[in-house]
Amino acid sequence: MCGIIGFTGNIDAKEVLLQGLKSLEYRGYDSAGISFFTENGVNTIKSVGKVDGLADKVASVAADVVTKCGIGHTRWATHGGVSEVNCHPHHYGRVTLIHNGIIENYKELQEELAADGKEPVSQTDSEIAAMVIDSCYKNNPIKAIKKAVKKFTGAYAFCIMFEDHPGSIYAIRNGSPLVATTTPSGTIIASDMVALIKYSKDYFVLPEHHIAHLTSKNITITDLDYNEIEPDMLHVNWDMAAARKGGYDYFMLKEIHEQPEALRNTIAPRIKDGMPDFSTDGIPDSLFSDINRIIITACGTAMHAGLIGRNMIEKLTRVPVTVEIASEFRYQDPILDSKTLVITISQSGETADTLAALRLAKENGAKTLSVVNVKGSSIARESDYVLYTHAGPEIAVASTKAYTVQLAAMYLIAFRFAVIRGSVSEDKIKKYVAELEKVPSFVQKMLSCDKAIEPISRKLLKTESLFFIGRGLDYALSCEGSIKLKEISYIHSEAYAAGELKHGTISLITDNVPVIALATQQKVFAKMISNIREVRSRGAMVIMIAGADAEVDASLCDHLITLPPIDDAFAPFGAAIVLQYIAYYTAVGRGLNVDQPRNLAKSVTVE
Ligand code: F6R
Repeated sequence: MCGIIGFTGNIDAKEVLLQGLKSLEYRGYDSAGISFFTENGVNTIKSVGKVDGLADKVASVAADVVTKCGIGHTRWATHGGVSEVNCHPHHYGRVTLIHNGIIENYKELQEELAADGKEPVSQTDSEIAAMVIDSCYKNNPIKAIKKAVKKFTGAYAFCIMFEDHPGSIYAIRNGSPLVATTTPSGTIIASDMVALIKYSKDYFVLPEHHIAHLTSKNITITDLDYNEIEPDMLHVNWDMAAARKGGYDYFMLKEIHEQPEALRNTIAPRIKDGMPDFSTDGIPDSLFSDINRIIITACGTAMHAGLIGRNMIEKLTRVPVTVEIASEFRYQDPILDSKTLVITISQSGETADTLAALRLAKENGAKTLSVVNVKGSSIARESDYVLYTHAGPEIAVASTKAYTVQLAAMYLIAFRFAVIRGSVSEDKIKKYVAELEKVPSFVQKMLSCDKAIEPISRKLLKTESLFFIGRGLDYALSCEGSIKLKEISYIHSEAYAAGELKHGTISLITDNVPVIALATQQKVFAKMISNIREVRSRGAMVIMIAGADAEVDASLCDHLITLPPIDDAFAPFGAAIVLQYIAYYTAVGRGLNVDQPRNLAKSVTVE
């Protein structure tokens, strides 16, 4: 959702900015631009489309330009269409800035500026922000920023250059992420650690409502009362290789293949003597001992992980769990109290709706726990407790490894909660834990099913619409299979509870509407068989995913994918790989850019 970067130092800033923007491109790819200080003032180069296009333009018009300080932006359009004039950086008066977020009151601000005869050239809220900051600017950048942000409502991360302060970059954020570090080559700030990793594994998150002043030697941070503060340093344990494709055609395929390791890294540190253990995460037993219900809230794929988590938590603890879409939850006036545990799930830790849901839960006295992949992200920092998943950076817009590690985290939560509650015997928990420990090698085995799935996916290339059906855990998985296929292949699909089809929707089933039927759960297998027969007799091509022991009549489906043996409760880890491959190969077969699907961006920091 827009990637931003600023660099000032002793090496070519253009290079640092362009490389950084390339790594941030997953956050938006409608247009890209950079501004940089030169002897003659601030230069700006913008280009509609991807960062490669911008890099070509920079090479042709500014290859010899010397600059050591600049800012760059890759855009996911919100206000104002995709055009060069709406592309960042935006410039007004002595101010040049890049922005990630939305200034919600920009219309009113624009009217105030118009009363002074000031008119923007673009349709963006970001240019209005530049104009407001410029109108507050006398010659003290910090004072101007402080005054201007008081006028803004909405979310923002800004990097700002003031024409008369060459070599300096100022930054502030509210809601949208910014991380920064100091290196021997200079100082750097960006939306995500992936843009910094080439220079350092150590970084800090710019605290909200604090102003960072970057010079070539250091970064000073002041709060809005001008007090200087020392940020908390963080460290990542992944490197440049993790942020590169490493020989794979797409990040998505690489990330699918990284799942065994990501799962191992997420599960192993939480198991001690065969039992779930959160002591190194600092999560106390009291978090679980005094609650009588759980609400899981998240968006998209993370919410789908919540649906599976609910199943395991309720099964083992008999404590009621509901799963809420964060964008709905936050406006529903939910009933919350100190006996409610709200679990937020988020890969990025920055999703605006999930963050708002978390804040609402806290305001209303609920206990909060988050399952987050990005260290130090807003959701992680604002939750009472955090259980980090260890997937490493996820670059492809379509989430894969982050999803399966979220499942693992939810299972660990279910096990630990059951131990604390004493709702299940120690023996039984040990058996579940032992099964979970087998999941990384189970997933490793599953990775070789690509050979079977690629040809099946070819049958879907001309499909306009299809259904995923399942019951229980398989219904939750259907939701995930459907979003994955839709977002990268642009084929319309729906996830449906298999038993619900005949209450209206089955009228859509024809020989042109394939059905992907998940039937991995013995408990409801016979019911699924009946549902599959119902769609098959209406002409649907059926792709069936079944457990190892399933006896499937050859006439039941057109294509059968069988999982290796595993307890039914853990089948989602295997079925998820099948669904990821179906989406991936269908999108590749349709000639689409799998990592950067149209209209989407990763890390949705706006509502
Ligand atoms: C789909 C996908 C999204 C995210 C959702 C939440 O493949 O990636 O649906 O799951 O935008 O994002 P996070 O997990 O960062 O909160």
